[in-house]
Amino acid sequence: MARIGILTGGGDCPGLNAVIRAVVRKGVGYHGDAVIGFANGWLGVLEGNLIELTPETTRGILHRGGTILGTSRTDPFRIDGGPDRVRRILAAHRIAGLIVVGGEGTLSCAARLAEEGVHVVGVPKTIDNDIGATDLTFGFDTALQVATDAIDRLHSTAESHNRVMLLEVMGRNAGWIGLYAGMAGGADAILIPEHAFDIDEVCQHLRSRHAKGHTFSIVVVSEGAVPKPGTLAVPEYEHDQFGRPKLGGISYAVAEEIERKTGFEARVTVLGHIQRGGSPTALDRILATRFGVAAIDAASEGRWGTMVALRGTNVVEVPIGEAVSALKTVPEELYEVAEVFFG
Ligand code: F6P
Repeated sequence: MARIGILTGGGDCPGLNAVIRAVVRKGVGYHGDAVIGFANGWLGVLEGNLIELTPETTRGILHRGGTILGTSRTDPFRIDGGPDRVRRILAAHRIAGLIVVGGEGTLSCAARLAEEGVHVVGVPKTIDNDIGATDLTFGFDTALQVATDAIDRLHSTAESHNRVMLLEVMGRNAGWIGLYAGMAGGADAILIPEHAFDIDEVCQHLRSRHAKGHTFSIVVVSEGAVPKPGTLAVPEYEHDQFGRPKLGGISYAVAEEIERKTGFEARVTVLGHIQRGGSPTALDRILATRFGVAAIDAASEGRWGTMVALRGTNVVEVPIGEAVSALKTVPEELYEVAEVFFG
């Protein structure tokens, strides 16, 4: 029987509402807790913007994308007196601890606050699937499905017009969406951040494919893909208010170069936030629900400083510091599997 807070931070992600629903249903119904929702990530904690969540007010949200709590990328450590304010607000509202649902940025704040004695339990979320310590994050499966559907659609139009179609997907530091969607959709080349690309090699794949009689190709490009040094000029990105480059658009430079070097007509589709919006897949709803139940169990039973994670098929608790110590990137041997099908 405790008052437990919950916030959702960072980019939104299909499955966040499933976590909220699970935390409330198990927390209120089984542990007898009160669950307090903070609006807009850490911003709501700093502002004391909160509301008690009940099974009634969290009904009908399992299948809904986004987050009923709202989200932001606010970082209390970048605000003067931020961490102290977090502590004060939690104490003022008699909140025993916080369930923090977020990606790398949001969970890093949680881990630092945990070191300073704030009670937190982390829940990993991101469509990028790049959080260390968990085999999978919810949201990824939905984004992967959206990207794979897009490739299927691009195939038919590519074939009709004899074009090279480039699909740009999210993936800032890790190319999980690009690699998996490319493999599932039968891409002829996949460019991801972990494997610097050489535009001449990409063109060679396309030429050899077209020499075999194919009249079109599909290239999947992660937004964070990097060319080998000196091989291709990439766009200058603006920065958002949190100092992060606003990625998106590298495929235009890649397409231009493909046209110049091969003479094949190339077109670009940037999938953008379509990948993050809308209803979560069944798999994401289930993972998010399991994470939510595990997180409220850990919080109610006082196992603070942990993060719930999927290891194999089991949901386990790991130290939250471990979760944010390293990004989970695509291993080279997996990229080599995809490469078998290039060209
Ligand atoms: O971290 C998740 C993510 O979807 C990244 O893949 C992408 O680069 C970023 O969020 C986009 O963030 P925003 O919505 O703030 O532009």
